[in-house]
Amino acid sequence: MTECIKIRKPDDWHLHVRDGAMLKASLPFTARSFGRAIIMPNLVPPVRVVKDAEAYRERLLAALPAGSTFKPLMTCYLTDDTDPDEVEAGFRHGVFTAVKLYPANATTNSAAGVSDYNKIRPVLARMEKIGMPLLMHGEEVDPEVDVFDREEVFIERRLIPWTREFPGLKLVLEHLSSKVAVDYVRSAAPQVGATITPYHLALNRTDWLGFGLRPYMYCMPVIKTERDRRALVEAATSGDACFFLGTDSAPHPVAKKLNVIGAAGLFNSPVAIESYAKIFADAGALDKLEGFASLNGPRHYGLPPNDETITLEASPWTAPEEVRVDGPEERALVYRGGESIEWRISS
Ligand code: DOR
Ligand code: ZN
Repeated sequence: MTECIKIRKPDDWHLHVRDGAMLKASLPFTARSFGRAIIMPNLVPPVRVVKDAEAYRERLLAALPAGSTFKPLMTCYLTDDTDPDEVEAGFRHGVFTAVKLYPANATTNSAAGVSDYNKIRPVLARMEKIGMPLLMHGEEVDPEVDVFDREEVFIERRLIPWTREFPGLKLVLEHLSSKVAVDYVRSAAPQVGATITPYHLALNRTDWLGFGLRPYMYCMPVIKTERDRRALVEAATSGDACFFLGTDSAPHPVAKKLNVIGAAGLFNSPVAIESYAKIFADAGALDKLEGFASLNGPRHYGLPPNDETITLEASPWTAPEEVRVDGPEERALVYRGGESIEWRISS
């Protein structure tokens, strides 16, 4: 008999769907398997104020397949000049679910991110007061810091001091990539939670660099060692409530991925929940998938889990190599494109 598992409908607590033609091409993949998603604000220009988030949300809703019940949860892009009143107004009116911190120049479209950490203190204090979560691209972008150590140094220099200065501030360390970060999050829970991507669970840096350079495995934070990957799998499949699903699916036009300076990001929403299911099945922990994918995230955000369910079944299919995008962007390469994917959504 084919193995199957029925779980509450999952949510994606970290997602890039972009705008325009790329939005239309990418969002339906997420709406197929997830009830809600935290939508990243790193557009050009970024989503910084309430009216821009409202307009972006309208474009998202218009890009959904007919009849979809998917709900986008919007975020506010933090800059040195973010006004605490704007953040609070967006939160109180149900437009902003959270604020997203990108250290300036840490990744795609982060040039307007935070460059002076002193300046964001009033925003953090206000968020602590109103119970609004801060989502962090947790990497220290100091040229003195090795790219493989950026996450660890961010935890030391920024995150640990913030947990002390703002003990009531809810924090999410996004796309966890190292054993050090896993150990830290466990020690700082429940104040700090963390998302884990399907590709940080599946890949190590030998996969990325060891047998020819694989540009589609390039992301920020970069893929790390096998020891780190194993720690991430152990964390995700442990059942610990501080770890939850966030795909960081991040489509780029193929010309930007394969450029002299390639863009960071993996477009994984076409195979996301299916790839998590494989990781959990291989670890003998399918019984922990629902907690990670559908329960721990809502709990950290103080939201109810979804009422609907999905069923996943162990029956292979082949992932598309690319997704066509209208206009000059043409196409985006799919993570695991062309590979046989072991699990599928059956209902
Ligand atoms: O690899 C990444 N791509 N990491 C991020 O944090 C941003 C994302 C993107 O927007 O492409
Ligand atoms: Zn991201």
